[in-house]
Amino acid sequence: MVTTSASPRDGWSSRTAFVLAAIGSAVGLGNLWRFPAEAGQNGGGAFVLFYILCVALIGLPVLLSETLIGRHGQASAPESVRRMARESGASAHWDVLAGMGVLSAFMIVSFYCVVGGWVLYYVGVFINDIAQTGAGGGAFEGRPAEDIEALLPGLFGNGTLMAGLGLVFLAITLFFVMRGVSKGIEWVATWLMPAFFVLLIAITGYGFVTGEAEETIAYLFTFDFSKLTPQVMLAAVGQAFFSLSLGVAGMITYGAYAGREVNLGQTSAIIGGADTAVALIAGLCIFPIVFAAGLSVTAGPGLMFQSLPVAFQNMPFGSVIGFAFFMMVGFAALTSSVALLEVPTSWAMERFGVSRMVSALVVGTGAGVLGVLAALSFNDLAEVRPLAMIPIFANANIFDALDGVTAKIFMPLGAILTCVFVGWVADPALVDGENGIGGWLHQTWRALVRYVCPAVLAVIMGFGLFG
Ligand code: PHE
Repeated sequence: MVTTSASPRDGWSSRTAFVLAAIGSAVGLGNLWRFPAEAGQNGGGAFVLFYILCVALIGLPVLLSETLIGRHGQASAPESVRRMARESGASAHWDVLAGMGVLSAFMIVSFYCVVGGWVLYYVGVFINDIAQTGAGGGAFEGRPAEDIEALLPGLFGNGTLMAGLGLVFLAITLFFVMRGVSKGIEWVATWLMPAFFVLLIAITGYGFVTGEAEETIAYLFTFDFSKLTPQVMLAAVGQAFFSLSLGVAGMITYGAYAGREVNLGQTSAIIGGADTAVALIAGLCIFPIVFAAGLSVTAGPGLMFQSLPVAFQNMPFGSVIGFAFFMMVGFAALTSSVALLEVPTSWAMERFGVSRMVSALVVGTGAGVLGVLAALSFNDLAEVRPLAMIPIFANANIFDALDGVTAKIFMPLGAILTCVFVGWVADPALVDGENGIGGWLHQTWRALVRYVCPAVLAVIMGFGLFG
């Protein structure tokens, strides 16, 4: 039996709205915070170029596969998979690929909101700065750079504040998810994402003129083959999936709200292109400052949060720009956290026949509990190593474990299953009717989905995890 919700299904109000919401889901902390941190920790250029390759050859084909499953099914992710499976005469158990995605999205949203809380903290820091020294000069006037860099470790040391801010960010996310697709998510995406692009480009331009531009280009784009270890490759694959919102059934979920008029091949290319552009711009924005201020490229999670405020110190109107920038980062993060929370919420709504409100509240509460544990892993629970038995995660605290397991295991595994499902199991007639591409492009996509993506992913996962 086909389950449908009692009320008419909510959906994007237009093709543009779908594209903007999907870009909103893709563009977020993954681009601004995680990409520079991963690039810095994995040796720069080799990681970046391999990342771009992953986006083009694996990310885009998977993105198209996910959106087409969703658009065909017009239901929550697992139900969409079941529909396509049923119509292809295959086992409904293929829904496991979406079920795993639901679990990953739940795990990611819990730690994602913690980082969203850091963003809120910096918004507060800049408001405070404007209140104290006015809007005209740079931020943090007269204070040494070490003071500014010490803000984040200061926050990390305060478990209660960090957990509290993470919960606030989660509550804001919940608010939009409860309002539903067209009234909530779409509004943020249509109004705030364009503003964000403009501001990011302006700040990058400034950083480029005043910071270490040459060193940055050399660092990010010099391909040193010897640095490309299996672990770096796995990190790049994981980052590609994280950034494009793949392997967690998120794009299946969003595709399900897209109408028949949307050309999925074309929109996948737009989404992938925009997401990659923002990641690269974020790199070009952050590293000149990192080099100019003598910060360490391997600073990891702190990189964006510690480097940018230093740059805002020297800019005219720095505190206002800092405030605006972190507000925008917050909005970009919100359009992603909303997408993440929407995945388990829409699943539970359908699975248990409850309202959006109830479902979102229950899922949100669970994510809140896990999020508090993730926040405390920077202080009170810093010594806890939940995955000590797995070598590459042996040193990971709760936060790192949630991030590592999802990006390095669940997402690539979800993508392998998606490719096998779309490439081998689903009826080609159904798939071809949805994907919006033809000719050689279609042939290439099919070959990538059937052979290249699953094989390459399996090899990279194998060597990256066990090699
Ligand atoms: N792509 C988002 C980001 O880069 C994170 C995300 C992952 C959102 C998976 C939805 C699903 O911030």
